[in-house]
Amino acid sequence: MAKMEVKTSLLDNMIGVGDMVLLEPLNEETFINNLKKRFDHSEIYTYIGSVVISVNPYRSLPIYSPEKVEEYRNRNFYELSPHIFALSDEAYRSLRDQDKDQCILITGESGAGKTEASKLVMSYVAAVCGKGAEVNQVKEQLLQSNPVLEAFGNAKTVRNDNSSRFGKYMDIEFDFKGDPLGGVISNYLLEKSRVVKQPRGERNFHVFYQLLSGASEELLNKLKLERDFSRYNYLSLDSAKVNGVDDAANFRTVRNAMQIVGFMDHEAESVLAVVAAVLKLGNIEFKPESRVNGLDESKIKDKNELKEICELTGIDQSVLERAFSFRTVEAKQEKVSTTLNVAQAYYARDALAKNLYSRLFSWLVNRINESIKAQTKVRKKVMGVLDIYGFEIFEDNSFEQFIINYCNEKLQQIFIELTLKEEQEEYIREDIEWTHIDYFNNAIICDLIENNTNGILAMLDEECLRPGTVTDETFLEKLNQVCATHQHFESRMSKCSRFLNDTSLPHSCFRIQHYAGKVLYQVEGFVDKNNDLLYRDLSQAMWKASHALIKSLFPEGNPAKINLKRPPTAGSQFKASVATLMKNLQTKNPNYIRCIKPNDKKAAHIFTEALVCHQIRYLGLLENVRVRRAGYAFRQAYEPCLERYKMLCKQTWPHWKGPARSGVEVLFNELEIPVEEYSFGRSKIFIRNPRTLFKLEDLRKQRLEDLASLIQKIYRGWKCRTHFLLMKKSQIVIAAWYRRYAQQKRYQQTKSSALVIQSYIRGWKARKILRELKHQKRCKEAVTTIAAYWHGTQVRREYRKFFRANAGKKIYEFTLQRIVQKYFLEMKNKMPSLSPIDKNWPSRPYLFLDSTHKELKRIFHLWRCKKYRDQFTDQQKLIYEEKLEASELFKDKKALYPSSVGQPFQGAYLEINKNPKYKKLKDAIEEKIIIAEVVNKINRANGKSTSRIFLLTNNNLLLADQKSGQIKSEVPLVDVTKVSMSSQNDGFFAVHLKEGSEAASKGDFLFSSDHLIEMATKLYRTTLSQTKQKLNIEISDEFLVQFRQDKVCVKFIQGNQKNGSVPTCKRKNNRLLEVAVP
Ligand SMILES: Nc1ncnc2c1ncn2[C@@H]1O[C@H](COP(=O)(O)OP(=O)(O)O)[C@@H](O)[C@H]1O
Ligand SMILES: [Mg+2]
Repeated sequence: MAKMEVKTSLLDNMIGVGDMVLLEPLNEETFINNLKKRFDHSEIYTYIGSVVISVNPYRSLPIYSPEKVEEYRNRNFYELSPHIFALSDEAYRSLRDQDKDQCILITGESGAGKTEASKLVMSYVAAVCGKGAEVNQVKEQLLQSNPVLEAFGNAKTVRNDNSSRFGKYMDIEFDFKGDPLGGVISNYLLEKSRVVKQPRGERNFHVFYQLLSGASEELLNKLKLERDFSRYNYLSLDSAKVNGVDDAANFRTVRNAMQIVGFMDHEAESVLAVVAAVLKLGNIEFKPESRVNGLDESKIKDKNELKEICELTGIDQSVLERAFSFRTVEAKQEKVSTTLNVAQAYYARDALAKNLYSRLFSWLVNRINESIKAQTKVRKKVMGVLDIYGFEIFEDNSFEQFIINYCNEKLQQIFIELTLKEEQEEYIREDIEWTHIDYFNNAIICDLIENNTNGILAMLDEECLRPGTVTDETFLEKLNQVCATHQHFESRMSKCSRFLNDTSLPHSCFRIQHYAGKVLYQVEGFVDKNNDLLYRDLSQAMWKASHALIKSLFPEGNPAKINLKRPPTAGSQFKASVATLMKNLQTKNPNYIRCIKPNDKKAAHIFTEALVCHQIRYLGLLENVRVRRAGYAFRQAYEPCLERYKMLCKQTWPHWKGPARSGVEVLFNELEIPVEEYSFGRSKIFIRNPRTLFKLEDLRKQRLEDLASLIQKIYRGWKCRTHFLLMKKSQIVIAAWYRRYAQQKRYQQTKSSALVIQSYIRGWKARKILRELKHQKRCKEAVTTIAAYWHGTQVRREYRKFFRANAGKKIYEFTLQRIVQKYFLEMKNKMPSLSPIDKNWPSRPYLFLDSTHKELKRIFHLWRCKKYRDQFTDQQKLIYEEKLEASELFKDKKALYPSSVGQPFQGAYLEINKNPKYKKLKDAIEEKIIIAEVVNKINRANGKSTSRIFLLTNNNLLLADQKSGQIKSEVPLVDVTKVSMSSQNDGFFAVHLKEGSEAASKGDFLFSSDHLIEMATKLYRTTLSQTKQKLNIEISDEFLVQFRQDKVCVKFIQGNQKNGSVPTCKRKNNRLLEVAVP
């Protein structure tokens, strides 16, 4: 959305008058009062036409913010309240858009705010002009040149803590788009006397203090300096510190700014070396030494400082020392050397210091120019900013003030010229008759000073060049002769009769009546300062320095370029540079800022009328206003004028259809403004008297009030009416809504009642039908029942005879079938487990099924046994066969048997194959071993037992020694006839051999073994399979065995528990061997 354009004017909310041209009546008092009134309301800017008066507020005001910049950007000059930005904007825009070079002339006395104003202008232009990296760098360099120049060219004075001690003119160059390209700085007349001497309460140039406070120890050592200010004669001590100024921090700022501007590190350092050399020069002191010819000659007191300076600058010490003691004057072919006395030596020293410093300053300006100069050769537009010392009137005014005031005189002249010219041009442009304007033209004063034949400066030069003794007095005399008749020149000796009695004029003074007031000049020092003499010996010494910068500062010291002509005097130099400046300014469109200092205390809020009055006078501001309103006080383009005042006349309010000019004509006629009070230009209306304007303004104010009430009235009426209409409309809406609501409600009620009635009727109807249907249904049912009964009776009657014969049998069969079916089904659910040893079997439910039940049990058992057996491998089958054999042989016959059932038959308990001890034994046997076990062989003689290995093979029974494995006896199975054993729980058994066989020679064997049952079974089976004969097994508690020739009875008795649980064997006699079984 476009920002709403608000047409404003300078005339809105004005405090006093924003433009002095409108002051009525115009005199010094009203002028000052207006300034004061505005100043008290923090309005520090006031216009005189397009000139800006700026009163130093001595405090920071919130009127320079970026928002303010935006506010003033691209607005017309008289649209907003007076501001320095308005002037800057006007200048910049007319430079950019109308291709007019501009200059901004800032004048005012020291401390009035000129330098600040110049910075404000520059920063405004920087803010509104183009952007971009390159442009920004240029801007930054231009802005950063300020701190560098201020460090070297500014000093604290009683009037201003940061007073510029040089004049500065800076051209900022722009391209066709208005982007900055670069700049050129010119400097005017640095106040170099300050280097060697400062008035009370003032300081030397900032850079000295900044260097000593801010430099690192290392840098100080390099420059052979000490931090203590009091060490240096050139630094006055009473005000070395300035409140609110941090020299050390400023030093860093300056170094940084130098870097940004483009100084190389070595350049910055050699600049500081020159500063150090100047400081140290001040410490060189001289003492008189009498010479033979009776004259005094100066000698350096302490050569240490001199030595250090020479080291610092690379000058031969003897050269510099000689330059401080002798002066060589060259004239034609002659060269005359004279010695210097102490005073001359000091003069020479100070002259050197001043020259060194001022040349360094000029060098700096040139160096900065080199950095900031525009790189391109395209045509440039230029905006010059002149910040030059204003008019100075001190108690003691000397050569400097004279020069400065001359410069101001020139500026005033160009001001008058340009203002009048502009005024005149405008009249011509606007086609208005030019009336003569009466004003004071100061050309006559300029002439008094600068006239080439009899001007004061020309005469001063003449005196300086004249051979013979020249003093300030001779100069004054000359002035008295030449200028005596000039209206603006006064002196005590003047022949002008008007001043003969003027005793207010002291001796050796002259007074000039400047445009801004009378100033009394002291002639003392004029000649010297104009000469600005530096002995050639010194410049030659400096030229010999190995320090490149210093050498370059003194080109005239080069003996090869010796120039016998005197260098131009300070006055003529200045005159020339002022002339160039004026020429330069004349080509540009001027913009003026006139700075005013409100008080001498650098304090905010204080407005010393006398002081301001003085400045207004010498700045010629009243003059300025008069010139401005000489013809017409106020002018305004037709459009804004009509816009502003159209409400004052019925024809133009609210809209004027025709051209603005005729609108204004109608308006002015209607208002009956006297015709001589205004004139119509081409584009502007010119109003002769401010009173007329104020009358218009008053009328406008009155009319605005009326219009406001009218607007109010109409607005209130409109508001009430709209409110009423709204109420009315609302009422209708509410009523409609309410009616609708009521109607709806009634309808719903009726509807629900109808529904209720309807439902009752429907219910009643339905019930009636239901009753009927039920009745019909019951009738139908009754008919069916009756029919069924009747039918039944018929059928029964028919079938009764068959039924009686078979019924009993059928029922019996059916019942039996059911019962059996039920039995099987139940059995199926009650089956015991598949384990063959499970004895469970469900109880029999019916007696008549007893045999079936038992048979089922048997079949089931057989079936599960088969199932069990089917799982067996062949090996397991063998084992079970063996076990079965054992059972058949010993079950219920031998008490030992039950304990053997659980033991698996292993056969080869002794692992002969694996035991290396029995290797021989193993090798001796070729057949398969069925039993290998250790048994106790009972000694036939005494019943004691020895361990033997018992081996059974397919065909033989072998006994071997347990330890050695040696075979003791071998019995073929065919020779075994019988095996005997007790019926008790013991492991004794006897092996009977066939009588007469080879093995039977020693008799039968009696053994005891833990595996009796197994051994007996295996022996039985093997014998059966080999010999096809059943081995006889005798189980009896008394049996006979054949021991050699004897038949011995083995008797088993129930032994006592004394011998533990092991059966014991004892040979009782020849016939009896007793075995006690526990
Ligand atoms: N517009 C301003 N706003 C605030 N302070 C200002 C303004 N102009 C000047 N001053 C104050 O006045 C002092 C002197 O101003 P300066 O521009 O150095 O004077 P001049 O250059 O005329 O000797 C500044 O240091 C600053 O404190
Ligand atoms: Mg200044």
